[in-house]
Amino acid sequence: MPDGLVVGLLGHGTVGAGVVRLLREHADQIAVRAGVPMRLGPVAVRDLARHSGAGLPRLTDDPRAVVAAEDVDVVVEVMGGVDPARALVTSALQRGCSVVTANKALIARHGAQLRALAAASGARLEYEAAVAGGVPIIKPLRESLAGDRVRRVLGILNGTTNYILTRMSEDAGSFADALADAQRLGYAEADPSADVEGHDAAQKAAILASLAFDATVTDADVYREGITGVTTTDIAHAARMGYVVKLLAIAEQADGRVGARVHPALVPASHPLAAVRDAYNAVFVEGEAAGSLMFYGRGAGAMPTASAVVGDLVTVARALLAGEAPPKTLLRARAEPAQVPVADVATAVVQAYVLLDVADEPGVLAAVAGAFGERSVSIRSVWQEGRGETAQLLLITHATLEGDLRATLDRLRTLPTVRDVASVLRVEGGEA
Ligand code: NDP
Ligand code: HSE
Repeated sequence: MPDGLVVGLLGHGTVGAGVVRLLREHADQIAVRAGVPMRLGPVAVRDLARHSGAGLPRLTDDPRAVVAAEDVDVVVEVMGGVDPARALVTSALQRGCSVVTANKALIARHGAQLRALAAASGARLEYEAAVAGGVPIIKPLRESLAGDRVRRVLGILNGTTNYILTRMSEDAGSFADALADAQRLGYAEADPSADVEGHDAAQKAAILASLAFDATVTDADVYREGITGVTTTDIAHAARMGYVVKLLAIAEQADGRVGARVHPALVPASHPLAAVRDAYNAVFVEGEAAGSLMFYGRGAGAMPTASAVVGDLVTVARALLAGEAPPKTLLRARAEPAQVPVADVATAVVQAYVLLDVADEPGVLAAVAGAFGERSVSIRSVWQEGRGETAQLLLITHATLEGDLRATLDRLRTLPTVRDVASVLRVEGGEA
């Protein structure tokens, strides 16, 4: 890098354009902090005409040319998707070129292999923006908390679903209206089912679980439920009992196994995550030595995400300037985490809120309580709502195994007095 660090950019969409803007507008400060000026090199897009007015002298529609360019010192991958991003990032790392990416789908699926490649070639692979956008959480887990033992990570990792749940609870808005607003505001993925069905949060949960517990957890290992089944009735019941409903990503370690799950949950109104509204993200980390920590901020959008990407670029620049080349054995140890097995979700310890449509007749409560008792699922509280045809029983359990909860729900569905298991939501941030 004779007269500056040359950045090759794969993608000039929402995030890529934000990165270009920061590199231009904060150029002096970035040069001081990185120890070297950063220069924008080739930029790859699909549609050249659409970006022709952006003042990008080395615009190309051939992403492989960006990765192969001799003068490129670091590749920023902000094109999204697993393919062809995977091949491009692989190719850059194989030739020892460091990569900064915001691509959660790629890291959640192939992070372990890519980290190993980077370690083998001495390149850096940085992905702060892949989880919670502008909120620093990757470096805190990987570096700041390296001396601690993380017990559990609870996160609100998807802005779209948090926005929808906030609107449904504060304005009694419908799911469909709130989703349309989230799309209009630019929070949602191109296919919003990735948000509302929990896929996006599961990718981020896999990345956090892998880092927090030195494991190899992919998005396929994460148990996942989205928010499409959450109703305004659930939210109203939760509020009366002192809870808010959030889509939570949970990563935890117990009995030598790592568990990761994403599902809607009731969170006590007094818990710090309950105050995370609209499209904001937050990650609550329970450390053995550090205690409880919370990282909070904007999890999406051009400039917050670009801030994380450019922060990673500064990290890479500093490493290159320092001639960082730790011994390969050390790199290998860092790159290959112990293979901590992934836990079956049935072994997770959970608390649950269960809403039942029931026949309003003598003996119903005894039958329902019996079904819980068969699997030793202890009931903490129970309420009856309505009468006659509209009678509902609302129960909160004590902490139990997810497997026993599921068996209890199956049993409840067989009872003649239970017309429907209307809702099941976990309760987190309390006793479980
Ligand atoms: P966009 O869809 O806005 O931008 C993607 C860019 O990549 C476009 O410029 C597109 O070109 C280009 N591109 C895509 N495929 C190719 C290809 N095969 N060859 C050449 N260029 C290609 O995505 P975002 O900026 O929103 O997201 C980028 C990444 O950042 C994703 O991995 C996303 O998950 C992640 N991310 C995004 C956040 C956000 O708030 N948007 C937050 C955190 C992470 P063209 O413009 O011509 O179509
Ligand atoms: N669709 C994502 C969200 C974008 O709503 O959080 C950021 O990853």
